[in-house]
Parts: sequence; structure tokens; C-alpha cells
Amino acid sequence: MKILVTGGAGFIGSNFIRYILKKYPDDSVVNFDKLTYAGNLENLKDIENDKRYQFIQGDVCDYDGLCRAAEGVDAIIHFAAESHVDRSIHSSHEFLQTNVFGTQNVIDVVRELLPPPSPLLGKGGGVRFVHVSTDEVYGDIESPKKSKNGDAFKPSSPYSASKAASEVMVLAAIRTHGVPAMITRCTNNYGPFQFPEKLVPLFISNAIEGQPLPLYDGGAQIRDWLYVEDHCRAVDLVLRQGKVGEAYDIAAENEPEVINRQITEIILTTLGKNKDLVEEVAGLRPGHDQRYAVDSSKIRKELGWKPQVSLEEGLKQTIKWYQDNQDWWRRVKSGEYRQYYQSHYGN
Ligand SMILES: NC(=O)c1ccc[n+]([C@@H]2O[C@H](COP(=O)([O-])OP(=O)(O)OC[C@H]3O[C@@H](n4cnc5c(N)ncnc54)[C@H](O)[C@@H]3O)[C@@H](O)[C@H]2O)c1
Repeated sequence: MKILVTGGAGFIGSNFIRYILKKYPDDSVVNFDKLTYAGNLENLKDIENDKRYQFIQGDVCDYDGLCRAAEGVDAIIHFAAESHVDRSIHSSHEFLQTNVFGTQNVIDVVRELLPPPSPLLGKGGGVRFVHVSTDEVYGDIESPKKSKNGDAFKPSSPYSASKAASEVMVLAAIRTHGVPAMITRCTNNYGPFQFPEKLVPLFISNAIEGQPLPLYDGGAQIRDWLYVEDHCRAVDLVLRQGKVGEAYDIAAENEPEVINRQITEIILTTLGKNKDLVEEVAGLRPGHDQRYAVDSSKIRKELGWKPQVSLEEGLKQTIKWYQDNQDWWRRVKSGEYRQYYQSHYGN
């Protein structure tokens, strides 16, 4: 199978590409990525010379560029997005541009790939399209309820609103144009190569550096953390066995649920650091969702998916990865990210 991956130089996309090339010797991947501040080709250094891998720098908002990249592919996995909630609060336009207009372009390119043969791209085929959405489209949910497929979207941030908007464009394209799309909505991921602006890598790297850990709003928020490789396996299953037109919620369903303060404490304890590094901050994320929880029984029953890495084991592996790969995150942190970090958290 030849797969076009958008956003493959980011956190989940790069883990997904590595997963596919390792698991399927006959598959090939085209990675189409704009290389924004979050895109990093170093994430794929180990496979950059693999003959089955090709990188094309491009913007999903560029329809012609996307069309050329999609020539001859059997599937498109759409990860590319502006993905950070805090940044979306500072400025929302880029989120609408990439997440909504960019997704519409991807939909239009998928339509070009469908039979009858298109004059632009040649022979059409049975292309499959996976749109990677997020559980955040459902918004906050009170305990002990879980959001599930069919529930109304109640996004709270400009990020999740843009993801909800892109998702409804995909749903409309399925219905109106018969686009062979499937949707995944996953809970919060963590693991290697995550940009150190997100909670887990930010706190691990700050703790290693002896810098404060900015814990938002008392750290009582509940996130259902899933190890990134478990998410990649789920997306791959949906790609190969998912039913066209369906959406699949993906979640660790960690029991008991954990709050961000506990994640913070596990990080500090594992690294042998003092809890004094925690710096409580309030008000930096207006509209902060208290709890996400989704029911993942559909993908478990229909596709036989379940997480293979426990939260305890995944955090242990992730902390070790950031300890062993300090060059990677130190280079990332010294770039444009520093300016953003200072404007958001102050010096
Ligand atoms: N990280 C999570 O916990 C999580 C959970 C559920 C769903 N998701 C979704 O998974 C996807 C990937 O998330 P991530 O955490 O890997 O994000 P990320 O920010 O690490 O990576 C995003 C990638 O997209 C690229 N990109 C951004 N704008 C682009 C554009 N206009 N054209 C082409 N490429 C562009 C960036 O360069 C980067 O490589 C996103 O769609 C996100 O909404 C993420």
C-alpha cells in the first residue's frame, strides 16, 4: 500500500510512519508536511534513507501541491494540523486555515482520486481516507459519564472548535460526495518525539533542566493518556479494516482516572526531582476543560483494538526516552519555541 501521510514530521505522524514502515515491508509512505514550528525532520532521521519513504515539503492549503503528492497513493492519513490549545487561544487564524481549509483541500484531493478516472491525476482507485480528529471535539464531560459516537460536539477552545469544524466537513463529504472517509477521535497522547510545549514532554524536560513545571489551575484536570504507539496501531487498524463512513473513538480508558497533578508527580518521582519545582499557574487557559473521557468500545469490539502499553509502563519508557535524547529536545527548545514560551509564561 502506498500511503500519503499529512503532518508526518510532527509527533504522532512521525511515530505513525515509523510504525507502518516497520510493520509492512511492502508499504511505502509519502510524508507531506509544511514543517511549521512543530514539524521536525529529525523525528524521522532513522528512516530518511529508506527507499520506501519520501518527504515532500508542502502546505495542505496548497491544493495543487497536495494533488501532485497524492498521485498514485492508495490511502491518505490526515494528521496535519495546528495542534496546541494555548496557541489557538493566543491566535486562532492559523488553526482555521490549516485545520479547516486544509482539511477541505484534503477532501477535494481524495475526490480527485476516486473513479471515474480524473484528467488531473490519471487512474482513479479505491483510495481510503482517514481523518485524524480528537476527543476534544466532545468537550468537557462530567464524571462518571463518557462521551460517545453520536454525541453532540461541544468544543471549548479555538483548537477543538477548528477540529470539530474540519470533522463535520469530512462527515458532509462522506454523505454528499461518497468520500470513502473514516474518522478517528483519540484521547491525549504521550511518547517519544512530542514537541516540548505539551504537558508530558514539557514537564519531563523542565524537570531534567531543574526549571519550574507550570501546572495549570490546580492540576485537577482529567485526561485519558494513551501511549502514542497504541494510537498509531488504532489508526492503522481503521485504515485497513475500518468501515467507510464510520468514526472510531480511541481511548486508554485508564482506571482509576488520573489527574494532571498525579502525572506531574510521577514524572518528578521517576526523575528523583523535588516537588518544589511545581509552579501553580492560573488563568493561562481560559475555558480549560476539566475532564475528557470517551467510550472506546466500538473500536475494541469491531476491530479488536486495545491498548498494549499501560500508563505506568508508557510513562516510564517516555521519561527514559527524554533522558536519553536530550540533544533532540534541547535543540527544539532553543528555537522559535523559546520566544513563544516567554510570551506565554513570562521569563
Ligand atoms: N497530540 C495528541 O494528544 C492528539 C490527540 C488526538 C488527536 N490528535 C490529532 O493528531 C494530529 C497530529 O497531532 P500531533 O500531536 O502529532 O501534532 P503536531 O503539532 O506534533 O504535528 C503537526 C504536524 O503538522 C504539520 N503541519 C501543520 N500545519 C500544516 C500545513 N498547513 N500543511 C502541512 N503540514 C502542516 C506540522 O509541521 C507538524 O509536523 C492532529 O490532527 C491532532 O489534532 C492529537
